[in-house]
Amino acid sequence: MSIDLCKVMDLPIHKDPRGNLTAIEGGTHIPFDIQRVYYLYDVPGGSERGGHAHKGLHQLIIAMSGSFDVVLDDGKDKRRVHLNRSYQGLYVCPMIWRTIDNFSSGSVLMVLASNKYSEDDYFREYSDFMRARWQA
Ligand code: TYD
Repeated sequence: MSIDLCKVMDLPIHKDPRGNLTAIEGGTHIPFDIQRVYYLYDVPGGSERGGHAHKGLHQLIIAMSGSFDVVLDDGKDKRRVHLNRSYQGLYVCPMIWRTIDNFSSGSVLMVLASNKYSEDDYFREYSDFMRARWQA
């Protein structure tokens, strides 16, 4: 899988003077069904999260509040994506090593994921990821 498949997607905005609303339906607005939602919050300044790859998981990463950077690495190319809009999501396909840093104060990161949590789906060692990447 190439980082070129990872795209920032514009999500629907229902604009309203009372406040905007964004709704996301799995399979309609994003290219997978949603089995799990998790979020990061109370992130101390200077933290780095992630630092792993998934074997089969599809994800959409959204900056619900504040901003942060997602660094995508497919074992060949790397790209840093800055997220700071709650109406945009970064789609991350399987077999991408991703780290997240540069969190702004008070930021909230939400992940919509295609599967339930499974430790078996992780590569937590970069060397294991690279080995599998080049065997594929
Ligand atoms: P982890 O994936 O290691 O976080 P990071 O994104 O920084 O690599 O998850 C941290 C802890 O939370 C770990 O003990 C596993 C647990 N966890 C769940 O129980 N369910 C989940 O959906 C996720 C993402 C993590």
